[in-house]
Amino acid sequence: MWMFRAKPVTFHFGMCNQAFRVIRHFSGQVKSKKFFTTPIYYVNASPHIGHLYSSVIADAAQRWQRILEKDSTVVFSTGTDEHGSKIQQAASTRDISPSLYCATVSEHFKRLADKFDIGYTNFVRTSEEKHKNTVVKFWNKLSEKGHVYKSSYEGYYCVQDETFLTETQLKEVKTENGADMLVSLESGHPVEWTTEENYMFRLSKFREDLIHWLRNNENVVRPKKFHKILLDMLSNELQDLSISRPVTRVHWGIPVPEDDSQTVYVWLDALINYLTASGFGKDEGVFSRAWPPDVQVIGKDILKFHGIYWPAFLLASDLELPRTILCHSHWTVNDEKMSKSKGNVVCPFDRSHTYSTEGLRYFLLREGVAHSDGNYSDTKVLRILNSELADTLGNLLNRCTGTVLNPRQIFPKIDPQALAAARSVNVTNNLINQVMNLPGKIGAVK
Ligand code: ME8
Ligand code: MG
Repeated sequence: MWMFRAKPVTFHFGMCNQAFRVIRHFSGQVKSKKFFTTPIYYVNASPHIGHLYSSVIADAAQRWQRILEKDSTVVFSTGTDEHGSKIQQAASTRDISPSLYCATVSEHFKRLADKFDIGYTNFVRTSEEKHKNTVVKFWNKLSEKGHVYKSSYEGYYCVQDETFLTETQLKEVKTENGADMLVSLESGHPVEWTTEENYMFRLSKFREDLIHWLRNNENVVRPKKFHKILLDMLSNELQDLSISRPVTRVHWGIPVPEDDSQTVYVWLDALINYLTASGFGKDEGVFSRAWPPDVQVIGKDILKFHGIYWPAFLLASDLELPRTILCHSHWTVNDEKMSKSKGNVVCPFDRSHTYSTEGLRYFLLREGVAHSDGNYSDTKVLRILNSELADTLGNLLNRCTGTVLNPRQIFPKIDPQALAAARSVNVTNNLINQVMNLPGKIGAVK
């Protein structure tokens, strides 16, 4: 007899059962449709296991959907976020053109997804024409509905997080040479003072609607902890959001429609990737079947963008809001967030030589916990893979299929009579019941 070690269940993909959208076949048969997304990753550096983690979670969710309903149509989008100051700076430091730089790094992310068997159906690159067209259409929609105005903006900007911050979102720290420096309270990245002409989005108008959305959909942001964080953020007034940058500062971006002195703010550009993946503004039929996303996987670092800005943009353009935002915590190394800017990253390509791609996927899903950070260590990976995959599951498989036990290697179908007879033994009966109840338990919506 073998057992999995007890561990709190971190994700369950039963949420995929909720509110199925359906497509009617010509035969009259009803077919469900599901839309899963990962964030699109910045190309300022190569991928690490944090990126792989989000992709593996989204992939597990879509695989689960395909198991639940073999016949369902799945849209699963991922991709790369290629515009803005950060990418512009990364290309310029390497002295190559931004487009060549983006193409090279984007290819690494695509290779990562392919190597680790992430079953995406759409890989969106924000520098592609298709995406630029979607951004223009979406911008025009926001503008036509009166949600955009021009203004002069003064405030702090954090290039690494590509975000504007207010004074309450900052803290002062000492640099290595003892000087005072302002950094983002949340990420610790430095900020700079900016004064510029921008187009603004009337975010402040959507505060009540956002609160209403969250209060009426208590499972929309999972785990609950992140739902609560969003409600806390909304307990203060929202300021309008700058959605463009002067081209003199950020030339590597999508020009604002009818004003090429400005480029679209990279976060608006990036969030629209989900619309690009679903055919928005291109094919109404395809779009209305795909929309809205069912499960959007994100890391907690981008919760504000997906839990406040994104739904506000959608509300402003009369589009349905995502059904679930699945937010996970971070992988740390020596208790520091693993990140490209800190240079403490673990490379998934490297590790796959030692652990195999399946091994690493297993480790990330087995050990990662959505509501709290997990510390990565190679010792931990080895221990888990050896004890669970090799010793437990591997051993079980060997025993069941070994030639000593089964010399003729014949694997008959379950014999209902033998099964019924086995039920007369209590232990066996319990075991059979547990196996029978397992699919229902996993699929249960809590
Ligand atoms: O923020 N642990 O891209 P990004 C777990 N382009 N997950 C991690 C992680 C870690 N240490 N580090 C990164 C961006 N991730 C934007 C997103 S979406 C419209 C635009 C994962 O390259 C996690 O999902 O900084 C995080 O939210 C994402 O990668 C950020 O990747
Ligand atoms: Mg980041």
